[in-house]
Amino acid sequence: METVLSGIRSTGNLHLGNYFGAVKNFIKMQEENNCYFFIADYHSLTTYPTPEDLHNNVRMVLAEYLAVGLDPEKSSIYVQSDIREIPELYLLLNMNAYVGELERTTSFKDKIRTQPNNVNAGLLTYPVLMAADILIHRANKVPVGKDQEQNLEMARKFAKRFNHLYKVDYFPEPQPYNFGEELVKVPGLDGAGKMGKTAGNGIYLVDDEKTIRKKVMRAVSDSGPTEMNQKMAEPIQNLFSLMKLVSDQSTIDFFKEKYNNCEIRYGDLKKQLAEDIIKFNAPIRKNILEISEDSAYLRKIANIGAEKARESAAKTLKEVREIIGFKPF
Ligand code: TRP
Repeated sequence: METVLSGIRSTGNLHLGNYFGAVKNFIKMQEENNCYFFIADYHSLTTYPTPEDLHNNVRMVLAEYLAVGLDPEKSSIYVQSDIREIPELYLLLNMNAYVGELERTTSFKDKIRTQPNNVNAGLLTYPVLMAADILIHRANKVPVGKDQEQNLEMARKFAKRFNHLYKVDYFPEPQPYNFGEELVKVPGLDGAGKMGKTAGNGIYLVDDEKTIRKKVMRAVSDSGPTEMNQKMAEPIQNLFSLMKLVSDQSTIDFFKEKYNNCEIRYGDLKKQLAEDIIKFNAPIRKNILEISEDSAYLRKIANIGAEKARESAAKTLKEVREIIGFKPF
């Protein structure tokens, strides 16, 4: 059984792209592995959330992941800031990270460009904290998106460097967890590319009916087919891809035929798509809202998760301290 660690950003709600993409795989992943899922709230401090926002973001993210099926019996689900061993490992790993290599990471260079007035040291050492998150459980596998591959590579580098420096074979080099063919790409509503938070083209699991209708009705389409069986442009393909996730086959067939006969009215298709998304979202949304208001339940889950994570973290830290040479008198 492998130890798998997933880090979840504490900002940003789950959208349909997350749901049909990574999250569906998480549910399966936890059946076959020793999984740790944690909410990265320390990392979010690089952008200075208010104390209320910080807490509410963590609450919503935790509620959402529980609502979609992360199972606290099977996995350890915890909040990063509950595990004090993580910042200690972060401190130790920082001694072993070079400023030059941190300055060269693409995410850091992006930040310098996009927020030149707030290039804090937390941003520079972001990959070190991330490595601490991973190495604290000596995880073998980490599911990451494209944007996090370089950070994972840094974690491997720090693991290797530590092993080399102390002539031990202690930290495994964490590899990407591969979902393989199963990773469904969900398109956004802006006619190009996949659904994403920054693209602002998404439908969130907590969106209410009105919001969903508004977003879908505004989705990019085209001026309609002019020839029978005309090849679909990307925006139209995307609308059908979304339908495939939430609508009945008969609905899809109905609109495909209309398209092929040049009789399609995109307004009708979008109306139907919006209703089907609403129907799909409704029970999940209800669940999320219920859980997010149940403080006693959230407290219980976070405590159980933290306890499990702390056990593994404390063991690693104790061993790391010994390897480094910290010894009690
Ligand atoms: N940096 C990740 C993101 O922005 C979140 C994260 C923090 C993470 N620590 C991690 C992911 C450890 C994987 C492993 O999405």
